[in-house]
Amino acid sequence: MNTKHLIVVFCAIVIAGAVYAESRPEEIIKSRQAAYAFLGWNSAKIRAALDPAGTFNKEEVIKSANAIQAIANSGLGALYVKGTDQGTGFHETKLKSEAFDPAYASKLAEVAGNFNKEANTLAVVAATGNKEAIKDQYSKLSATCKGCHDNFRAKNN
Ligand code: HEC
Repeated sequence: MNTKHLIVVFCAIVIAGAVYAESRPEEIIKSRQAAYAFLGWNSAKIRAALDPAGTFNKEEVIKSANAIQAIANSGLGALYVKGTDQGTGFHETKLKSEAFDPAYASKLAEVAGNFNKEANTLAVVAATGNKEAIKDQYSKLSATCKGCHDNFRAKNN
């Protein structure tokens, strides 16, 4: 490889690096919004199944509960990257900057931990098919969504 080749390779790496750095926060915000949107979809399906006017289908509830559990255990914390409280994914992010404030670190860990715990329990309870028990556990899970949103999701921006 002569010097000219090396320069070409070097420039290609620099350009690739610049593009990567530029698209990354947007990709992270997109993944975060997609994860929560899919979470919301599965949660709404369980809510509808539990509605007295709805149809309770055990297998469908299990599918949604398992999806919620998988999302909860997928390492969502990796999508809380510093600086991604600003920017646009599918739409402007609603992540509050408090998520990166050390003063709120234990609060974030607490609400995220509560969500994981109740999501894991919901999957176990859903498998029993006991509608009343699922209802109780689903309301516990929903409280954890609110617990995080109240602290770390902007109402509108
Ligand atoms: C640990 C914090 C946390 C927990 C727990 C949490 N959320 Fe969220 N949620 C967020 C944040 C932050 C956003 C905004 C993400 C963004 O715009 O970058 C969000 C956004 C959303 C959105 C909008 C997604 C979109 O289209 O942009 C929905 C729907 C949602 N959450 C539903 C839920 C449901 C349902 C639960 C519980 C089963 C839940 N969330 C639990 C933090 C949380």
